[in-house]
Amino acid sequence: MTSGPQTIVLITGANQGIGYAAAEQLLKQKNYYILLGSRNAGTVQKLPPNVTDDASIQQAADQIESKHGRINVLINNAGINNELSLYSKQQESKESKPDLAALRQIYRDAYEVNLFGAAITTEAFTPLLEKAIAKPARIVFVSSHTGSIGLRVDQSSNFYERMSQPSFPVYRSSKTAMNMLTLHYAAKFKEQGWKVNASCPNLTKSAFSRFSDLGRSPTVSAVNIVRLATLSDDGETGQYSDENGVVDW
Ligand SMILES: NC(=O)c1ccc[n+]([C@@H]2O[C@H](COP(=O)([O-])OP(=O)(O)OC[C@H]3O[C@@H](n4cnc5c(N)ncnc54)[C@H](OP(=O)(O)O)[C@@H]3O)[C@@H](O)[C@H]2O)c1
Repeated sequence: MTSGPQTIVLITGANQGIGYAAAEQLLKQKNYYILLGSRNAGTVQKLPPNVTDDASIQQAADQIESKHGRINVLINNAGINNELSLYSKQQESKESKPDLAALRQIYRDAYEVNLFGAAITTEAFTPLLEKAIAKPARIVFVSSHTGSIGLRVDQSSNFYERMSQPSFPVYRSSKTAMNMLTLHYAAKFKEQGWKVNASCPNLTKSAFSRFSDLGRSPTVSAVNIVRLATLSDDGETGQYSDENGVVDW
């Protein structure tokens, strides 16, 4: 027996890793219905196939609208870090000149998923989030501590040593830009009572980190994402956090 309308959640890139762990935890919430975004056919349900493909994002929005009429929560989780391949190629190469075309492509590919994908998915699903009248929307941007300019420059922070390294400029800047998207949508939908926030998973043992032994379990990294997805009406909006609290932008 169900009580009241279901809370419908769409998570992009949820066939594995942190997105999948978030789905597992959200399923334990009372009366939640989870749509797993997966670009691979053959996994749970093909929704939306690829956040870099506008037609498929729109197709997913149309399908969900005709089946469910709305979504209540959008979790922009799909993300890549494609820089490792560039650095290993650079180390192998005897060329002193950088491969500019390869670097430009790395930037394009990373921004396509991490930034443009999250922005276009949010725009495509805004009409469905607007239809969640009984329960104003929640949007979670899955960002990263590594995108924080605050942690990058704050010498008193525990993160400073790691964050001040000149590493992963492509990935990190894409997440910094995603943080601005978070603030943009938080301001845009403040009057409507939407809660729009960014979460920092921290280094996690997933395909993304090549299953780094230094990474923690996706289950732990999903906890704050789930908290932000299920915020009550007095919860925060326009904030950047991990499970320990607010993170400096
Ligand atoms: N792992 C970490 O250490 C870490 C730390 C901080 C932040 N994060 C962030 O956490 C999020 C989830 O990462 P994760 O660790 O769970 O990595 P993951 O296990 O590699 O999962 C990433 C998910 O994104 C999907 N994806 C990639 N490109 C896509 C595209 N073009 N369209 C749709 N989906 C796409 C992947 O699909 P496929 O399975 O088809 O590739 C996969 O489902 C990412 O945004 C990442 O930046 C991760």
